[in-house]
Amino acid sequence: MSGTPGFAAFASQRFLVVGGSSGIGLATARLAATHGAKVSVAGRNPDRAAEAAASIGADTEYAAFDMIDEAAVEVFFAERSPFDHIVVTAAAIRSAPVRELPLDTARATFASKFWGPYIVARFARLTDAGSLTLVSGAAARRPRAGRAPVAAASAAIEALTRVLAAEFAPVRVNCVAPGLVDTPMLRAARGANAPAPQVPMARAARPEEIAFQILACAANPYMTGSIVDVDGGLATTG
Ligand SMILES: NC(=O)c1ccc[n+]([C@@H]2O[C@H](COP(=O)([O-])OP(=O)(O)OC[C@H]3O[C@@H](n4cnc5c(N)ncnc54)[C@H](OP(=O)(O)O)[C@@H]3O)[C@@H](O)[C@H]2O)c1
Repeated sequence: MSGTPGFAAFASQRFLVVGGSSGIGLATARLAATHGAKVSVAGRNPDRAAEAAASIGADTEYAAFDMIDEAAVEVFFAERSPFDHIVVTAAAIRSAPVRELPLDTARATFASKFWGPYIVARFARLTDAGSLTLVSGAAARRPRAGRAPVAAASAAIEALTRVLAAEFAPVRVNCVAPGLVDTPMLRAARGANAPAPQVPMARAARPEEIAFQILACAANPYMTGSIVDVDGGLATTG
């Protein structure tokens, strides 16, 4: 890669967004496609993935697999040439206080948020100039009551990011840590009329604002092992 870093470099590059059928992933896939990337979106539900792909553009591909299914992930990558950039936004989260959340549900949340991206990383095929971008969450370093599995898994994802950056070089590995983001996941967890978060920006992020930072991680050829907060200023609050 040469010249001034920017999203123009994405033109004709191959982008995979695992979790690209909804929320932050869909916004990331759409923004990459806007800059000329050849985009694939993946999720478990094939109809949802197909609908998302069609909404992005006629040449957007889609695939359906469960990222915690090792064999399915291995086959997916074995059947395709290496991607230039892979983004993993996928997760299915259930939260409740430790004494109330059934252990199976807690384990499934941790598996989805941590082992899913781990398995994608294990089998991913990337070009040498490429990148992998993971997503943690503000809960990694600002945990709240009732969020144990997702907070622990998010912290684990941030540690994994740094390990992978060391292991995968020259492929770059970074992580974006959002605060609250207005997506189907958030609406399901908090309801449509939840109060605005008490952060300096006084609102949840739009998915496009997180997508922008994810693409910035992918586009910056000197960025690896970085964890980037995009949380409306949460760190300034008490
Ligand atoms: N929204 C927030 O406020 C917020 C805040 C902090 C961090 N985050 C993090 O940001 C990421 C994206 O969140 P979001 O709000 O955009 O979620 P979302 O709208 O619920 O989208 C999740 C996506 O992941 C896919 N998915 C879930 N489990 C999967 C699996 N096992 N294998 C493959 N695909 C799977 C879903 O499709 P299928 O259901 O079809 O599989 C969907 O495309 C998550 O890691 C979340 O923890 C979100």
